[in-house]
Amino acid sequence: MLKGKTVILGVCGGIAAYKAAALCSKLTQAGAQVHVIMTASAAKLVQPLTFQALSKNHVVVDTFDEHDPAVITHVDMADSADLVIIAPATANMLAKLAYGLADDMLSTTMLVTRAPILVAPAMNVHMYDHPTVQTNMATLVSRGVYFIDAAVGQLACGYVGKGRMAEPEQIVDVASRLLEQLQDRPLAGKRVLVTAGGTVERIDPVRYLTNDSSGKMGFAVAEAARDLGAEVTLVAGRTTGSVPAGVELIPVQSAQDMLEAVLERLDGTDIVVKAAAVADYRPEVQADRKIKKTEEALTLRLVKNPDILMEVGKRKKGQFVVGFAAETDHLEENAIGKLERKNCDLLVANDVTAEGAGFGTDTNIITIYGPDGFKMPLPLCTKREAADRLLRLIADRLDGAGIGQAQGVPGGESGGGRMP
Ligand code: CTP
Repeated sequence: MLKGKTVILGVCGGIAAYKAAALCSKLTQAGAQVHVIMTASAAKLVQPLTFQALSKNHVVVDTFDEHDPAVITHVDMADSADLVIIAPATANMLAKLAYGLADDMLSTTMLVTRAPILVAPAMNVHMYDHPTVQTNMATLVSRGVYFIDAAVGQLACGYVGKGRMAEPEQIVDVASRLLEQLQDRPLAGKRVLVTAGGTVERIDPVRYLTNDSSGKMGFAVAEAARDLGAEVTLVAGRTTGSVPAGVELIPVQSAQDMLEAVLERLDGTDIVVKAAAVADYRPEVQADRKIKKTEEALTLRLVKNPDILMEVGKRKKGQFVVGFAAETDHLEENAIGKLERKNCDLLVANDVTAEGAGFGTDTNIITIYGPDGFKMPLPLCTKREAADRLLRLIADRLDGAGIGQAQGVPGGESGGGRMP
């Protein structure tokens, strides 16, 4: 995957800078065109000439070292990169990247580039654990930066702990897999709207009705869509767990809120996946003060909520609409009934009573139904795997239907994360 690719190798002033020389050599051997940017501190630890000899390219340390008058070096390098690897990345560089500082060649170039960035941190164990460093890394992950975790071992400062830079061979392997993963983007340019979690229907300011949905299936769909290149908006009710990085989150409470959030975004959306567990009923009256226990019995009258999926099915203009059905009995009959009634393009059904399926679990057993008698049962797998299969099926069907992308949609940002 690295053959013929232009890679910027950013080297910061950590003692692991010496390992970056081996990394530079291995990237070059793998066929990449490597352009090295060093910080001034890195250049104190290893001579730029070492990297020049290994990469066969000019090494840049100073932002104002403009050796080609035809171009602005940091913009030119940023634009030409297929991938950036920062190894080693110091705590200082992570902070600069998280806050958008541009006071050296590497941080300046990082603000310009649109290429994926893979970071291999290396530092003292306490520095690595410091909440500021951890927060900066989390910020960068949320913006789509990829990380290779530091390894545990003997550190240059004498400590044994987490902070060693990953080995050059591992970084090359991860870089190659990352490029492969980023090429596989059948949903690039598509806008996906996912709903997740249970809705919250207020009784009074301190009490509400909800359901067992954890939102995990919706989160998995959002994450899979993001990884396949889509731009994803997640309308989420009550959920547990963390929202996938690189996804726009619209938090909502009631079914009514969710309906408004979805309908507002329907134009310009290519694919709608309704994985949320929407309450069918809400209290007719929502008390604006806490209800006191003055009565011996209390009757709560419920009224029907709008059916969001049905509304989307009625109004869709070219959008690909996917519904979910969590059933306890008559799975196929109910699923096909909902598919037709709600005018869906696909319907994902699961029997919530089956072992390994349903609310709160990390796995699911789903069957996907289509209007043309289409039926695709999947074996027990993680919700993430099931979501990936579903999104790939949607991508195939979109291709078949020849549906174009929404107007004015930029290419989807890929999500960052920790690379194994
Ligand atoms: N749904 C919705 N709005 C509702 C109820 C359901 O958008 N008020 C959507 C869900 O997000 C899901 C699909 O409709 O994608 C099926 O939901 P489900 O609760 O299984 O079906 P219901 O239509 O509510 O039917 P029933 O409760 O009778 O099974």
